[in-house]
Amino acid sequence: MEISLFGERFSARTGIQELMDDLGSALSGTEKTYMLGGGNPALIPEVSRIWRDRMQQILDSPFEFDRMLGYYDTPQGKREFLVVVAELLRERYGWRISERNVAVTNGSQNAFFFFLNMFSGRNRAGKLRKILFPLMPEYIGYADQAAEPESFVSCRPIVRETGDHEFKYFIDFDRLQVGDDIGAICVSRPTNPTGNVLTDDEIHHLASLAAERSIPLFVDNAYGTPFPHIIFEDVAPIWNDNIIMSMSLSKIGLPSVRTGIVVANEEIIEALSAANAVMNLAIGGIGQALTAPLIRSGEILRISNELVMPFYRKKSRQAIEWIHDAFGDSIDYSIHRSEGSLFLWIWFKELGISTMELYRRLKARSVLIIPGEYFFYGMSAPWDHREQCIRLSYAQSDETVEQGITIIADEVKKIQR
Ligand SMILES: Cc1ncc(COP(=O)(O)O)c(C=O)c1O
Repeated sequence: MEISLFGERFSARTGIQELMDDLGSALSGTEKTYMLGGGNPALIPEVSRIWRDRMQQILDSPFEFDRMLGYYDTPQGKREFLVVVAELLRERYGWRISERNVAVTNGSQNAFFFFLNMFSGRNRAGKLRKILFPLMPEYIGYADQAAEPESFVSCRPIVRETGDHEFKYFIDFDRLQVGDDIGAICVSRPTNPTGNVLTDDEIHHLASLAAERSIPLFVDNAYGTPFPHIIFEDVAPIWNDNIIMSMSLSKIGLPSVRTGIVVANEEIIEALSAANAVMNLAIGGIGQALTAPLIRSGEILRISNELVMPFYRKKSRQAIEWIHDAFGDSIDYSIHRSEGSLFLWIWFKELGISTMELYRRLKARSVLIIPGEYFFYGMSAPWDHREQCIRLSYAQSDETVEQGITIIADEVKKIQR
């Protein structure tokens, strides 16, 4: 079978896909596994009940049910949903937006596929434009999305100790070069895999660099505010005409409805709607139908602030405590300050083996984590740090997280002995 370069690029097996398959097959055995590797949000009982009740309400209304399933929506999304999202953001943050600034995609991953390719690759003049990731490590889901190779460049962060066994990454603005080959700048906030939340100053600085060059700044708000609000710091979401902000219904407990939301200037929204029509014809309406009344009433804020955020904050603090107890003084480790998302990012300074090898050894003991190597892409210079970190999800049951951490501690102590 002869296929195109495009076909080759997107059908090639990637490292992370192999790893995810590996995680999946590890889970299919009969032995108890400690799944700290994936990015699935937790099923929070009070929240699941809200989705079930809302679905029941739709089922009980033939009109609503037929409207949800029986029609194609516009490629921009359901008008009613676009209106309530714009209203929420306008009222809460004072952003000057209307429904013409909002579009829906089949998951925010899908929005990134379009935008990362819209602003990278060869332009009409034949010039290669690149996406700049100003702070590595960054979300693995972007890594293989560019249609043209060599489309991503990224920067090493400043690593600053912020407490006992705690550090935080900051953007190194002194080293950050936004050359004229850069087509857009991209960050996730909170960041998957580290739980970092870029400060308001960092975002303002990036936004002004982007504006100076007339290129967009993508801010991936999949874990951010106003929903799902898995964010433990008091920071403001920032938006302007030059920022493309994406949001998602996944991490509030609805990953299967595949609903991403993009807030951007009207020109960008028109371009995205056109792409939606080509790639998807229309957007799945279930997530929009399910959540529109809750967004209109503000109930989505209560769910986020009173149920979702406290649930994850408690789990994060508890997991950190378990790590301190299990690692003690005999392991040289530091945890990235947990400011949001579902993950802890642990740095082993003196491991003696790569975290890929640690991953293999932990897998043999039924504990699944993600080795840090995968989250540093677009970097040309070598950096030891890439092989010294792991990502661990704390969204699983307390028993799984605690036991998993105990086994990690035991394995690392064995290596360092
Ligand atoms: C930072 C970040 N962005 C985007 C996504 C994609 O989310 P979805 O396509 O489910 O909206 C994820 C999923 O884990 C993520 O962690």
